[in-house]
Amino acid sequence: MNKQAEQTRCQGCCGCGQESEAQLLERVRQVARDHRGKEGCLIQVLHMAQSIYGYLPLEVQRVVADELDIPVAQVSGVVTFYSFFSTQPRGKHTIRVCLGTACYVRGGKKIVERLRELLGVGDTTADRLFTFEVARCIGACGLAPAMSIDDTVYKQVDPDKLENILARYQQEGGEEA
Ligand code: FES
Repeated sequence: MNKQAEQTRCQGCCGCGQESEAQLLERVRQVARDHRGKEGCLIQVLHMAQSIYGYLPLEVQRVVADELDIPVAQVSGVVTFYSFFSTQPRGKHTIRVCLGTACYVRGGKKIVERLRELLGVGDTTADRLFTFEVARCIGACGLAPAMSIDDTVYKQVDPDKLENILARYQQEGGEEA
């Protein structure tokens, strides 16, 4: 994960209208407080916290633990156990390139290489438009190599067309992940 991705969060000093970190943390605090004492609410609260803050760094986990009055280790245990929780900043769009057997033998690795060239190093781009991941199979083996961007599956992907595919998303802008 590159450091730049973390630095794109608004600090509330530029008048851009985005909520600052402190405001987002306060919203997380409020949501957790509203659930205090409710049995089995931790996963639900963490989902809401992630949708507010974008991801679940330790400071967010601490706020949740404080407000629910449970040990932070318990919160961290749940966050690390479930793959849908992330402790790192994520992009607005998630790209998953399949490197399952069918896709691997039909050129999945070339897609990964080309995307690395286009997106740079790190899992999330500096503008927080894309998060890049590798998948094991996305259910399109018959039309390999395949990849997905969010819920859209791209089949028989030609590495030379990747730039055009990404451009569609880049035109939308990427700051409101
Ligand atoms: S192996 Fe790639 S879609 Fe199944």
